[in-house]
Amino acid sequence: MMKRFLLLAILATAAPARAQQPATAARVEALLARMTLEEKVGQMTQVNIGVVATDSQPSPRDSIRLDRAKLREAIVTRGVGSILNTGEGAIPVAAWQSLIRQIQDVATKETRLHIPILYGVDAMHGHNYVSEGTVYPHNIALAATFNPVLVEQLGEVTASEVAATGVHWNFAPVLDVGRQHQWPRFYETWGEDAWLAALLGAANVRGMQRTGEVGATAKHYLGYNFSRSGRDRTPADVSVRYVREHALPPFRAAVREGIRSVMVNSGEIDGEPVHASRYWLTDVLRKELGFKGLVVTDWEDINFLHTRHRVAPTLKDAVRLAVDAGVDMSMTPLDYRFADDLIKLVRDNVVPMKRIDESVRRILTMKAELGLLDNPYPDPTLTARVGSSLSRALARQAAREAITLLKNDRRAPVLPLARTQRVLLTGPTAASLSALLGGWSYTWQGVDLRYYPKGIPTLADAIRRRAPGMQLVPADSLDAAVRAARQSDVAIVALGEEGYAEWVGDVVDMQLPPAQRSLASAIAATGTPTVLVLLEGRPRYITSLADSARAIVLGYWPGIEGAEAMAEVLFGEVNPSGKLPFTYAKAPYGIDLYDHKYTEELTGWGRDSAAIAPLYEFGHGLSYTTFRYGPPTLARPAITARDQQAVQVTVTNTGDRPGDESVLLFVRQLYGSLTPAVRRLRGVERVTLAPGQSRAVTFTLGADELSIVGRDGRNALEPGEYEVQVGGGKASFRVLAGQDE
Ligand code: BGC
Repeated sequence: MMKRFLLLAILATAAPARAQQPATAARVEALLARMTLEEKVGQMTQVNIGVVATDSQPSPRDSIRLDRAKLREAIVTRGVGSILNTGEGAIPVAAWQSLIRQIQDVATKETRLHIPILYGVDAMHGHNYVSEGTVYPHNIALAATFNPVLVEQLGEVTASEVAATGVHWNFAPVLDVGRQHQWPRFYETWGEDAWLAALLGAANVRGMQRTGEVGATAKHYLGYNFSRSGRDRTPADVSVRYVREHALPPFRAAVREGIRSVMVNSGEIDGEPVHASRYWLTDVLRKELGFKGLVVTDWEDINFLHTRHRVAPTLKDAVRLAVDAGVDMSMTPLDYRFADDLIKLVRDNVVPMKRIDESVRRILTMKAELGLLDNPYPDPTLTARVGSSLSRALARQAAREAITLLKNDRRAPVLPLARTQRVLLTGPTAASLSALLGGWSYTWQGVDLRYYPKGIPTLADAIRRRAPGMQLVPADSLDAAVRAARQSDVAIVALGEEGYAEWVGDVVDMQLPPAQRSLASAIAATGTPTVLVLLEGRPRYITSLADSARAIVLGYWPGIEGAEAMAEVLFGEVNPSGKLPFTYAKAPYGIDLYDHKYTEELTGWGRDSAAIAPLYEFGHGLSYTTFRYGPPTLARPAITARDQQAVQVTVTNTGDRPGDESVLLFVRQLYGSLTPAVRRLRGVERVTLAPGQSRAVTFTLGADELSIVGRDGRNALEPGEYEVQVGGGKASFRVLAGQDE
């Protein structure tokens, strides 16, 4: 009910969708025909705001002061097509509007062809670069909601706030698939499953582009997460087949949604940097997926082909490689060497003008379709969109639906807490805002609280509101915390990670820091029931703590409303319903992916199966009520490749509280030409059930859901036996070969 209402409310306040201009192509061609080589290459150049500002590090809630001479050099002399970012941190909405107005003034009044600037920003979880903006839970938390409707709404509100600041290009959503949990950008992903990332990513793109005011960016194409080391921007040594199966689906889904741009992965796949890969950028993205929009590099990545990847002996070679591979715009972003080199390459007949025209056409088309050629100026009447109560309500709803109850001792459940209990709260994330919001929050790393809006509640604030006698003991006062635990009915130990972004968040050990482990163990050893609250961007190992904790609640990085939502869950005002969108592993080299192969779980012959088993499985998440699943039933015993199979299951709330349950359908191929996964997620439906209420949920499976990526890289539906698994029940059916039909 609430969901539908919210969406209508957003639509009512949104600007009307810009109609597709039939004249766009003609308009673009007319402009292109008048452009010089320098002007064309300028359009392909994107610089950072610091290049044109007097001070790229405005203090909190200040504005960015532009340097007129540098601005004119960039826009008039160099003719750059795009500028990005906010310098050091978030600026107020009025400062955004003024910034964009000044930039567009120069572009439209002082240049020969009056082409406006396409400004880009990283609004990754809400508009996190505007001082008044609402910061939502990160994608990994949104994935735990298994709720595409909500994810679509969040995309829509984010875009409406981005447009209100005068910006029409968002470098989001991240569509990387998080199969390497150690990776410091894991929290930006939708978890370890490509099918789920495609479902939720496409919903987010749909929301973000709904009104036509903002173009979304699918990033980082492709395989960025699969690094062997788990460190940012390090090589992925995986097969093309693996990338197609586990990285490509969300990008394919985004292209189907009409995503306007794609940002390239800074890393490499099988020895080839993606920025230099004609195969991935042109053969697959353009020819196979049919992408028509704009391909932008990531930060400085053309230079890095020379300086880091060493596939280009000079910067000029790097430019040639990237443009030949299919890059349309270079986030240079600090100088104009890209433009200088590209101009030379065209003059020397190394890069044909036809190739330049292709890219410029895409850039101008994006500008035209976003309405920039008609009116590039911010609309001050949209200011109130930023940080609206609707946005705040959605942030709370998202955090509520994401928070995942990993453990609640079955014999003596400690949760939900009673307000009358004597509560101790301790741990490094107990009073930390950065551990709620994570990276990309008002600043890049999300740790400079001077840029945060005032009044965001910490976990301590939210718990104290419910339990006024709560004792808060700082994490570094171990003895005091232990003493306080002895005098308390329950101890909440808040662990996890402060914000980080990109390589700054690299770790070489997934264990929580020793001090956190010692604190949690010492508190649990007092015998006072202990609740672990985890606020973290990735599943840091908690194996040594899980047995002694009576309850464990995972908040991910739940955003600006995360503390309140967590307190609501702890005190039972909200029934938890999040489920893990990844496997919570016990240790390195144990089972860390839910869709592993049979050979990974072989037991016997001296193998310690308990050691390799996950701590918590993908899809795990408890509730304060209980759900019973009936056996799954199938519409037919066998299907052909052209048919659809319907799977039905009835879910009943058998407890005494209303609750939401995400029903997850898994499929497995019993035998295949390539080793099958033990299961693959192929259906999701989130249902709300009153106590005693039942709902029949139906899933449809066809070739899209059942196919595998074959040896030749193509999707293939193999005949044979398939099993569906849902809520502990199973059923199987056959897929018939052509001759059996
Ligand atoms: C990140 C991108 C981001 C870009 C612009 C890069 O370092 O990898 O995700 O869009 O910076 O801020």
